Amino acid sequence: MKRRDLIKSLGVAAGTIALSNVAASEAVSSVTEKKKRVLKIAHITDVHIRPEYNAVARFKKCLEMIKKDKVDLILNGGDTIYAADYENITKDRVEQQWACWKESITVVKDIPMHHVLGNHDMWWQGKGDELYGKPGVIKMLGIKNNYYSFDQNGWHFIMLDSNHPTSPGMLDDEQWNWFVQDVQKNSQDKPTLIMSHYPLLSCTGITDSKPEARGPFKIGGSYNHLDIMKFIEVFNKNKNIKICLSGHIHLLDKVWYNDVTYLCNGATSGFWWEPGDDGKSAYKQTVPGYALLNLYSDGSFDHDYIKYERV
Ligand SMILES: [Fe+2]
Repeated sequence: MKRRDLIKSLGVAAGTIALSNVAASEAVSSVTEKKKRVLKIAHITDVHIRPEYNAVARFKKCLEMIKKDKVDLILNGGDTIYAADYENITKDRVEQQWACWKESITVVKDIPMHHVLGNHDMWWQGKGDELYGKPGVIKMLGIKNNYYSFDQNGWHFIMLDSNHPTSPGMLDDEQWNWFVQDVQKNSQDKPTLIMSHYPLLSCTGITDSKPEARGPFKIGGSYNHLDIMKFIEVFNKNKNIKICLSGHIHLLDKVWYNDVTYLCNGATSGFWWEPGDDGKSAYKQTVPGYALLNLYSDGSFDHDYIKYERV
């Protein structure tokens, strides 16, 4: 290329850069105008609160940090108490664990909180008792049903119960029909977040698996909802479904599939508050934490995992 042509070409390039800077700044300002943060959320999951391991004081420290984060809403992803589901669990032990929960959450009593049921929350030994089964958990959490939805600041939230009686990690027909109708009714014009205890879609079934040397990986419904293909069909018809939150695995992962982001947000208790794999309550590589999410009016979001014991 001749020098004159080079200068000409640079001039055009410089003009292009200048123009593209103007275009970019206009684009940014229009995005800024369009993109307004409408909600800040903390997602805690697998708190597994218990009297041992100084868990209440440690969880209160976590909640103090959430309070300082000035969130509008807390979502609790289930396995709220350590465990009520084992055969040897007495009513005293169940009450003791719920007392730990109630004492802890006084820290955030002014922040709205919504919950889903975890697999360890239900006390199956107390038939006839007010704390028995799902009704007992619903009562202790103060929620209206084992699945429900609500709106806040222009977003729609769907709280699911993954605890299918025979196939964990699935909705029964009644809940599924309710879910489809709820999406049709409420998600047409609102960005939507779904929370379940078991992940709808996650890669942790691979990373938490202990396969034979030659495989195959064995991934059950507790790692990946068994009805995920049905969910994907619904999501594909309604592009307002943006985020699916879950827990259960105690591992932190993020899957993005077909425009939906699936966040399995570790565990607030880490290794059930016990020393764990690193002596500091890590389960494999995931340390105790909670997620912070900023939700925007245009349906976009960002998120972070806060390792509250490591700051
Ligand atoms: Fe758990």
